[in-house]
Amino acid sequence: MNDGQLPAPEESMHIDPYERQWIRVSIVVLVAFGALVVLASVLFGFGLTGDHAGVDPATVTESGPFAEPGLREIEPGKYEAYIVAQTFAFIPSTLTVPVGAEVTFHVTSVDVQHGFILKDTNVNMQVVPGEVSILTTTFDQAGTYHYICSEYCGIGHHAMFGSLTVEEQP
Ligand code: CUA
Repeated sequence: MNDGQLPAPEESMHIDPYERQWIRVSIVVLVAFGALVVLASVLFGFGLTGDHAGVDPATVTESGPFAEPGLREIEPGKYEAYIVAQTFAFIPSTLTVPVGAEVTFHVTSVDVQHGFILKDTNVNMQVVPGEVSILTTTFDQAGTYHYICSEYCGIGHHAMFGSLTVEEQP
């Protein structure tokens, strides 16, 4: 039998041949996914939205555009919306623009990670303290578009929402 030596690895851990195959497949899939993430980032520019200058979440609301969050019309029909996310509210929680408005959302967080989804549009961003998430969309349809926090941020997460109203012009 065994004369006091450790068993060879093959004896100590039996791996079924099928299981061994599936382990190999899993590793190949993981490597492929990792490679695709790198390719998407390098070739197609996928990544964090916004600029990467960075802001200080402790002081971002003291000066600059986030000191007075809200809408500004930068030229006819074009708006910038500066929105501060904090537990558990968006500031401001209501916005109103006319039909046809092109709105660039700038969203930052002063505390923890939040999310910003604007229903019925393609706006869906992570909101990370220290970063400004930026996306632009155009509103061709009148109506109310709710924005909600899409990252669990604490006990009041479910109460974190606001709404953007797109008004028909007379
Ligand atoms: Cu903020 Cu969930």
